[in-house]
Amino acid sequence: MSRKVSLKLNQIIEGDAFKVATGLPTECVDTIVTSPPYYLQRDYGSDAQIGQEASASTYVERLTELFGELLRVVKPTGSAWLIIGDKYQNGELMGMPWRVALGLKDVGWRLRSDCIWHKPNAMPSSVKNRPTTDHEYIFFFSKSRDYFYDADAVREPHVTFSEKSKMKGGRRHFGKRGGTPEQGKNGGNTNLHDARWDQAFHPKGRNKRTVWSIPLSKFREAHFAVFPETLVKTCIQASCPTGGVVLDPFSGAATTSLVAQTLGRSYLGIDCVKEYCELGRQRLENARNGDETK
Ligand SMILES: C[S@@+](CC[C@H](N)C(=O)[O-])C[C@H]1O[C@@H](n2cnc3c(N)ncnc32)[C@H](O)[C@@H]1O
Repeated sequence: MSRKVSLKLNQIIEGDAFKVATGLPTECVDTIVTSPPYYLQRDYGSDAQIGQEASASTYVERLTELFGELLRVVKPTGSAWLIIGDKYQNGELMGMPWRVALGLKDVGWRLRSDCIWHKPNAMPSSVKNRPTTDHEYIFFFSKSRDYFYDADAVREPHVTFSEKSKMKGGRRHFGKRGGTPEQGKNGGNTNLHDARWDQAFHPKGRNKRTVWSIPLSKFREAHFAVFPETLVKTCIQASCPTGGVVLDPFSGAATTSLVAQTLGRSYLGIDCVKEYCELGRQRLENARNGDETK
């Protein structure tokens, strides 16, 4: 349903994410970057909070209901990045990230990518009967078939062919050093299609991969895990045009809004805990004033 509401951008709104979302205008947001409270992980002390439901299915239902509403709020070219970790119960993995991802698909979001956030400095654990977990999921959804995605903004360094590599150019693939699919012995060879060119020669690097190795954030003022800014930066650069709008319905310390502000995008944050809204607003103001300690 279309809704005509005027929207004040660049604010952190205190309230329940679902209730606030129902009051937002239709198609006003380019991308969502968020991490919901994980199931039975932390009590935020708010009646509105998500994460303390009696059953895992109720938790999934609440998140699904929220994202059903957020689908309306996002522009037709819009998208959502959902960062979410799993949970062990009685020694068994619950599979919460995929349960939530499938719930979002059910309400119309199109799942584009399941990236892994690898945390090289993850907390050690004493488990002896399984590997220690050092990752979370980063699900990337779009609203429509055609959506905004700036692949060039998030390319990563080539690894297969370095500057010094004998393969650079490359003997087996491209005929001679310095050769490309466009020139040299193999010029015009249809086997040297876009993917190989992208892998080895694209001047901005190869296309972003699905495993992102990013250390945990050093920001310690919040009582919960805060996003690393690098992670949020990748999401925003890939899926929000300059001047566009980024939303985080579980704002916490407002890391998403902070990075959006730095990158010249507008932001909207929502959190049901007053103290976190204030912390986030302060962090944003400090950054605007050039206070590096944030
Ligand atoms: C994991 S933290 C988000 C941390 C954030 N990514 C950051 O970088 O600081 C989850 C946040 O969701 C908030 N929250 C929980 N239930 C909520 C609800 N129903 N509506 C709005 N915010 C909620 C909590 O207060 C908490 O700040």
